[in-house]
Formats: sequence, structure tokens, C-alpha cells
Amino acid sequence: MAHNVEFKKSGKTVAWNNKYESILALAEDHGIAIDNDCGQGICGTCMVRLLSGKVEMEADDGLDESDRKAGMILSCTAVPLSDIVLET
Ligand code: FES
Repeated sequence: MAHNVEFKKSGKTVAWNNKYESILALAEDHGIAIDNDCGQGICGTCMVRLLSGKVEMEADDGLDESDRKAGMILSCTAVPLSDIVLET
């Protein structure tokens, strides 16, 4: 099922496709720059705020409790489980 991923500040909404490993890969393919480093959910560099919807993260060690409470997700390991809106 195709979920829509909206990048609010970038003003783009794109359809999720399972060929992408992560929301970060989807963003990069559509010219949306998100800083990243480890690509494995460890460093936290690729953190973005999830404004609505649900994601699943294969690894989320790069988030601490306050990040989670603030709705942050790690775009390098997250995939959408519903239509989502990201702040980026
Ligand atoms: S790039 Fe390191 S946690 Fe995503």
C-alpha cells in the first residue's frame, strides 16, 4: 500500500515505495537534503520531527527520551506505516 510522505518545509509530498530502504533514501531521491552520517540509527544526525502518522524504525539508538517525546525519528532507519507528515 502506497503511503504518502509529506516534507512540510520542503513543500513536497511523495509516494512511499518499498524499493527505498528508508525515509532518508526517499528524501535524497527527491532532492530533499537531510544531514546524515552513520546510516544505521546510531548517531542521531538524520533526526527529523514526525508531525503526524506512524513509522517503524529498525534501530533507534540515536534517540534519547527527550527526542522521542518531541516526536523525533531517525530518517535513516524509519519507514512509514501510514501517511506521514515530516517537519523537514
Ligand atoms: S544517520 Fe546516524 S542515526 Fe541516522
